[in-house]
Amino acid sequence: EPETLLAYIEREAACEKDLKGKKILVTAGPTQESIDPVRYITNHSSGKMGYAIAKAAMLRGADVTLVSGRTAVEPPMFVNLVPVVTAKDMYEAVTSVSDEQDIIIKAAAVADYRPKHIADEKVKKSDSEMSLELEKTDDILKYLGEHRKDGQFLCGFSMETENMVENSRKKLEKKKLDMIAANNLKVAGAGFQGDTNQMTLITKEDETALPMISKEETAACILDKILECMNK
Ligand code: CTP
Repeated sequence: EPETLLAYIEREAACEKDLKGKKILVTAGPTQESIDPVRYITNHSSGKMGYAIAKAAMLRGADVTLVSGRTAVEPPMFVNLVPVVTAKDMYEAVTSVSDEQDIIIKAAAVADYRPKHIADEKVKKSDSEMSLELEKTDDILKYLGEHRKDGQFLCGFSMETENMVENSRKKLEKKKLDMIAANNLKVAGAGFQGDTNQMTLITKEDETALPMISKEETAACILDKILECMNK
């Protein structure tokens, strides 16, 4: 099909192959945590940012693994797609291959809590109010920061609605990251679902405020910044 031919041509001709020889793991999309056979807890992540990063890295010659929660986005060709549903699935998929990676970019919106008990049968409504008991999930990024192999570059994501830089810097330190790509959900055109983003790339040394640009352009800037840091 023409689209397939175009994808092959793009892979060969689109970009300078400045990530050739690099193994890159990208996570994308939301996780879903079941309540019962009918319902689950999730978030608004579309997966678009992570998929754009995976595609850009593939076009630049990297060997890309994309661990993705359920999304409606078409996965890019020539990446190794690992579909997952829950935070636990993502933890297992990521940690089983993390040692082999040169760069890990965690764009996924992972649940911080999941229902403590998943009901086997559909929960029926009653006349009273109900509450759900939640337990913490494992923080995948924190685990990666603590078990990182020498020379591996670790980039997290941070979504904030207030004190973006300050809160994101705290995550950078707490999770032992090299970089965190932060955005403020309250800025129109940034964050979940849309095709644009306005991110700030935060490292120990500096902050790079990107303009409001497409998620594809944002992906290119993230990869440029990672290469710049790794080549220092
Ligand atoms: N993350 C993760 N595992 C989790 C939760 C989050 O790997 N269980 C990763 C996300 O993929 C993202 C980063 O951590 O790269 C930031 O996630 P976020 O939920 O914003 O940060 P938290 O540290 O959970 O803090 P808070 O929710 O309080 O803002």
